[in-house]
Amino acid sequence: MSGVNEIRSTFLDFFRRNGHEIVASGPLVPRNDPTLMFANAGMNQFKNVFTGLEKRDYNRATTAQKCVRAGGKHNDLDNVGYTARHHTFFEMLGNFSFGDYFKDVAIELAWKLITEEYGLPKDKLLVTVYSEDDQAFDLWKKIAGLTEDRIIRIPTSDNFWTMGDTGPCGPCSEIFFDHGDHIWGGPPGSPEEDGDRFIEIWNLVFMQYEQKTKDERFDLPHPSIDTGMGLERIAAVLQGVHDNYDIDLFKALIAASEAATGTPAEGDKRNSHRVIADHLRATSFLIADGVLPSNEGRGYVLRRIMRRAMRHARLLGTEQPVIHKLVPALLGQMGRAYPELQRAESLITETIELEEKRFGRTLTRGLSLLDEASEGLDKGDILDGETAFKLYDTYGFPLDLTQDALRPRGVGVDLSAFNDAMERQKAEARAAWAGSGEAATESVWFALKERVGATEFLGYETERAEGVVTGLVRDGEEVKELSAGETGALVVNQTPFYGESGGQVGDTGLVIASGANSELKAVVSDTQKKADGVFVHFVTVEKGSLRLDDPIEMLVDTARRSAIRANHSATHLLHEALREVLGSHVAQKGSMVSPDRLRFDFSHPKPLDAAEVARVEDIANAIILQNAPVETRLMAVDDAIEAGAMALFGEKYGDEVRVVSMGTAIDGEKAGKTYSLELCGGTHVRRTGDIGLVNLVHEGAVAAGVRRIEAFTGEAARRHLEEQDQRLREIAGLLKVSQIEVPARVASLMEERRKLEKELAEARKKLALGGGGGVAADAGIREIGPIKLMARTVEGIAPKDLKGLVDEAKTSLGSGIVAIVGVSEDGKAGLVVGVTADMTDRFNAVDLVRAGSVALGGKGGGGRPDMAQAGGPDGAKADAALDAIESAIKAAL
Ligand code: ALA
Repeated sequence: MSGVNEIRSTFLDFFRRNGHEIVASGPLVPRNDPTLMFANAGMNQFKNVFTGLEKRDYNRATTAQKCVRAGGKHNDLDNVGYTARHHTFFEMLGNFSFGDYFKDVAIELAWKLITEEYGLPKDKLLVTVYSEDDQAFDLWKKIAGLTEDRIIRIPTSDNFWTMGDTGPCGPCSEIFFDHGDHIWGGPPGSPEEDGDRFIEIWNLVFMQYEQKTKDERFDLPHPSIDTGMGLERIAAVLQGVHDNYDIDLFKALIAASEAATGTPAEGDKRNSHRVIADHLRATSFLIADGVLPSNEGRGYVLRRIMRRAMRHARLLGTEQPVIHKLVPALLGQMGRAYPELQRAESLITETIELEEKRFGRTLTRGLSLLDEASEGLDKGDILDGETAFKLYDTYGFPLDLTQDALRPRGVGVDLSAFNDAMERQKAEARAAWAGSGEAATESVWFALKERVGATEFLGYETERAEGVVTGLVRDGEEVKELSAGETGALVVNQTPFYGESGGQVGDTGLVIASGANSELKAVVSDTQKKADGVFVHFVTVEKGSLRLDDPIEMLVDTARRSAIRANHSATHLLHEALREVLGSHVAQKGSMVSPDRLRFDFSHPKPLDAAEVARVEDIANAIILQNAPVETRLMAVDDAIEAGAMALFGEKYGDEVRVVSMGTAIDGEKAGKTYSLELCGGTHVRRTGDIGLVNLVHEGAVAAGVRRIEAFTGEAARRHLEEQDQRLREIAGLLKVSQIEVPARVASLMEERRKLEKELAEARKKLALGGGGGVAADAGIREIGPIKLMARTVEGIAPKDLKGLVDEAKTSLGSGIVAIVGVSEDGKAGLVVGVTADMTDRFNAVDLVRAGSVALGGKGGGGRPDMAQAGGPDGAKADAALDAIESAIKAAL
């Protein structure tokens, strides 16, 4: 008989040949449903297509859908390992018609596939129909030729399929396979139906209605088809086995588990191998779809699955981490059909190993505590709740793990005492925050946190998702509704909006209606994280109203988020490039990642020179050009830091942290290794190439020893460079040269200007000395008795040039006194008086300059007897100053 991979492709291929589009499985974490924890049916991803909200360019589709039934409404976790057909993860094959064919074609195709393609004998098959569905009854008779006794009418809700409390639904018809009378059980509807002889293999749902609320049901725009066939079950039938765990896929996984643990799957060990094989699949697929183990929501379901598998590995006698070693076996079986598994292989392996190590440390002690506490308990007895809580709280045993451990002995757990202990702990936590400073102003968030728990963040994987309103706050008080025109805060069970943290700003976007709440439009202006994990969306309702418990659709502003992602990833690259260029003393001191720009503060004692800035930019851009995938993994803080991940000093991290890595170092001691490795909870680009370009636009100081850089990426960087280019073009235009010639031209212009300035100064000097421009050489010479005084005013001369001028004048005068007032462009005056050597015994330049300075409104001056200098604020008084000097000479005669 054919293997699972062949059975899957036969199914998809058959429907493709019959006009169906093969569509990839939707993600395990549904984007389009606020209440579904995990995808649990093939139709999940098409929910809005059935209801007419969404259009696709095909109206027939076929899929193999990944499903997880653990946690939430459908929870099979407790049974897995002990039964023949329970799984946490399974695949559902399906074909769908969106208003195209209906019952007749659905039945015809189904019958053809199982009897012709799969070749199942007709006499082993029987079907059920919803009791009132005469049409389906007749079609089975006509198309399949089944006798009436093999078409069983089922009056119960068993044959009316709904995906949940709301959503598309309709009567259904199920196909059963008879495994033969060697197995106990009766046909559906009979008192023995729970036996294992007659097994449902395919469910055909005739989608006709949409359940809008609990009491309202409407017709779908068009009757449609949704079918679901469990791949593991049909594989068991086709491979002639009765137990899903005996199909080829599970045999291979169990063989790998036997090899890794060194324990054969025999006797009571069989169940443990089954648990491991099943949980390996759920774990790997969940991690590949972005779920990581945590203590909240989906992450906690994953953690429970992982820890349950680990305890079973312990039962098989292995003390060391072993489950992560089974990932290659899973990839060998399923990697081809699900490339996401291959892409996430290292993340899956590392995450499992980390959890194995982490839990391994307390597992032994927890198990011995459990053994001690349950010693002597027998079938029907109950383990006390305090012990179960201690195992949970101190040793990390999820409650269902404790239950699973006691189950083979028929021992239960005192659940109400367990819950009481949990409540008590919460009350203590409440008392602790009630006393803290933050609580005084923000108590509303803590109260919300306690009531609805932390918000699940979906934004690493998606920017659009549905959620259920779990809290509304207006003016600091919880309310039941925010209506049009009102502004307040919105809390949901899960959100794609990033709450501001780690320097990255919060997301903005829109909230619109989902399902019944059809009018709603609210604008999210910011998202913040409060009370350790509650995401608070600040909203203004524009249309309709936000009501508690309503499902809503949340749309992050994707263009803005893309820019933020690029800036955040670029920040990591610049951080590492700064360390490479400046040295490892560079440490992050602050960071701000917004859609417009990034800002990064770091320790460094002096400004960066142009060459350093250029190198930092070059390196960061070289990594961008590598277009390397940006990888995120979960690591223990200590391991992450040991691996060289950069962490913020003084920052509080949980036990486990997200570590973001990107690029390959080109040279230096890290050459060939991961370039940037940082602890980070932010959102990043998928590949470094998505950053486009990084461009440093500012470098400066913020505090002693702390520098700041600012940079643009992507479109903003391109625009910035474009503007610079435009300016250069303008300059070249003005200079009338090509852009390349601009620097040389500017240099020569500056040189020319220097020369001209010098010439101008010379000319002015000459002019002052009366040498040029037709001014008489003896201009300004006053004869005061026997003494010659050259008294001049010169406009536009710098005070520093005055002395040289006076020196020259002294020489040309031969014997006498020179007084020159220089008036600068801003109207101030400088005065220099020179006395030739033969006269210094009679006249002191210092005295004379003081006389002049007083007239200029100055405060005296200074110098030597042969040359003294002064200044004054009022150049208009130049003549008065010269006259004052003349008077002083006269007075001294
Ligand atoms: N949606 C139907 C099911 O899951 C086919 O059974």
